[in-house]
Amino acid sequence: MRRILVTSALPYANGAIHLGHLFEHIQTDIWVRYQRMAGNECIYVCADDAHGTATMLLAEQSGTTPEALIEPLRRAHADDFRRFHISHDNYYSTHSPENEHYATLIYRRLAAKGLTFTGEVEQLYDPERGLFLADRHVRGTCPRCGAAEQPGDNCDACGATYDATELGAPRSLMSDAAPVRRASLHYFFDLPQFTDYLKEWTASDAVQPEVTNKLAEWLGAGLKPWDISRDAPYFGFRIPDTEGKYFYVWMDAPIGYIASFRNLCDRTEGLSFEDFWDPGSSAEVHHFIGKDIVNFHALFWPSVLTGADFRTPTKVHTHGFITVGGTRMSKSRGTFINAATYLDHLDPEYLRFYFATKLVPNTDDVDVNLDDFVQRVNSDLVGKVVNIASRCSGFIARQFDGKLAGAIHDPELWGEVSGAAGRIGELYESGDVSRAVREITALADRTNAYIADREPWKHAKDPERRGEVHGVCSLGINAFRALMVYLKPILPAMAGRTEAFLNTGELTWADAGTPLLDHAIGKFKPLITRMDRKDIDKVVDATKAEADPSH
Ligand code: MSP
Ligand code: ZN
Repeated sequence: MRRILVTSALPYANGAIHLGHLFEHIQTDIWVRYQRMAGNECIYVCADDAHGTATMLLAEQSGTTPEALIEPLRRAHADDFRRFHISHDNYYSTHSPENEHYATLIYRRLAAKGLTFTGEVEQLYDPERGLFLADRHVRGTCPRCGAAEQPGDNCDACGATYDATELGAPRSLMSDAAPVRRASLHYFFDLPQFTDYLKEWTASDAVQPEVTNKLAEWLGAGLKPWDISRDAPYFGFRIPDTEGKYFYVWMDAPIGYIASFRNLCDRTEGLSFEDFWDPGSSAEVHHFIGKDIVNFHALFWPSVLTGADFRTPTKVHTHGFITVGGTRMSKSRGTFINAATYLDHLDPEYLRFYFATKLVPNTDDVDVNLDDFVQRVNSDLVGKVVNIASRCSGFIARQFDGKLAGAIHDPELWGEVSGAAGRIGELYESGDVSRAVREITALADRTNAYIADREPWKHAKDPERRGEVHGVCSLGINAFRALMVYLKPILPAMAGRTEAFLNTGELTWADAGTPLLDHAIGKFKPLITRMDRKDIDKVVDATKAEADPSH
C-alpha cells in the first residue's frame, strides 16, 4: 500500500470558487479517489490562502477586518467543494496557529543555515495611504516607449519590463497621490544557492517534461534571491525578531499544505505527521497546480523545504488554463461561472464528467464548449453507459426475479471489459483521464453492440431462448458494473446509486475483475438524468446578472 498526501493549490480568500478552481479540484479529486479505490492510503488536504494585500484591501472596502472576512469565505469555499463531491480530508486556512508555527520554524532553520539575508530595497510608497505599492497598484508612463497609464511591472503597449520606480509621473491607484521612493529593509531567501540542486530536481520525474523545459529556461537565465518580506501594514505573520516585517503571502502559502495536514494529524488517531514530512519519508507528496504558479512550486518550494530539512514533493502535477468558447472566462459574457451559480441549476457530476473528458497529462490549455458539454454528458454518459443498465435491468427484474445468471454468457466480451482495469488504472495514475474516459466509452459501445446483436427484447417471451436472454442481460449488468468501477473516481454519487441498485457494497478497483453471479440486484432507478441545454443558459444568464446587477 502506498501512503500518499495530495494537495490542490490554495484558493485566495478574496473571491468565490469558480470554474478554474473546480477544474483543478476535480482533477485532483479524481486522482485521489482512484488511489483510494486502488487500495492506497490517500489523504487530500487544502485550505484558503488568506494572507496578503488583496485580503487586507478587500476587508477595508467591506468595512471589516481581514480576520472577520476570511472565516465565512473559507466556509463558503469548503461548502462549494463539498457540493462538487471534492473529498478533502481537511479544508483549512493559512491564517492558522499551525501555519504560523511552521512558517516561523522554517524561517528560523533557513536563517540559522545562512540561507536568508537582508538588504535595502527602494520601492514606491503612497504617502497618503502610508503603504508600499505593489506593481498592480501604480500607473505611470512607460520608461521605454512613453505610453501612459502603464502598471508597475511591464508595459502593455511595448512589452518592456521594468521596475515600478522607473515609471514616469507615477500615480497611486490607492489614493491618486503621487508615490514617493522610499527605502526599506527586506528579507531574502538565497535561492541561487539551490541552483545545482534545482537543476537536478527539475529534470527528475517530479515535474512533467514541458515543465522541466520551462524551468530550464529560468535556471539558465540565472536565479535571483527571493524577497520574502513585506512591510506593515500587511495581513500575514510577523517575521520573528522583527518589527513591522511580515512574511510575503507566497512564503507562507505552500507551508499551508503542511499546516493543514498537521491540523488533520492532531485530530486523527494514528496519522503521523513525521511519517509524511521527515526527510527520507517513504510516503508520497503530490501537489496539483495551474501553470501560472509553477515557479513557486517547482523552484522556491522544494528549495525552502530542503533548506529547512523537510522532505520535498514526489510530484508537482501542473495543468493548463481553461478557456470558455475559445476565450478567457468573462463575467460579461457569462462564462466566469461561480461554483454556487452552477449548482443552482445543474448536477455537479455533469461538470465532473465533462472535465474528465478534457483532462490531459500535459499543461495545454483546455477549452470548455457549452454545446460539447451537453453532447458529452447526454450521448456518452447517459446514452452509452447508463443505457446498458436501463436496457438490461427491466428483463432481469420482470423475467428473472431480479436475479443475475450463474455464468458469464460471453467470456470474450467479459474478458475485454474486465481486463481493461490495469490499463485504465494506469491512465488515471498518469493523469490521462480523457483517454481513460475514451476507453470506457469504447467498452460501453462494445457492450451495447453485443446486446443489440442478441436482441433480448425479441426473445424475452420465447421459453427456448430464456437462458440466452438471461445470460445476455446479466452480462450487460456485469459490464455496466465494471464500467461504473472505472467511472467511480469521476462520478462518486452516481457510483453510490449504482451500488444501491446492484445491491453490492462499495465498489473498489478490484471489483472490475469479479462478476456478480446468481446475485439478486435491486430495482433500477434513474442513475443520472439527461442534461438540458436550457439549464446551461440559465447559468450563463445568472452569471451575466452577477456582473451587472442592474439587469
Ligand atoms: N493562492 C494561490 C495558490 C497558493 S498555493 C500554495 C493562487 N490562488 S488562485 O485562487 O488564484 O488559484 C488557485 C488555483 O486555481 C491555481 O492553481 C490556478 O492555476 C488555478 N486556476 C485559477 N484559474 C484557472 C483557470 N481559468 N483554469 C485553470 N486553473 C485555474 O494562485
Ligand atoms: Zn512601453
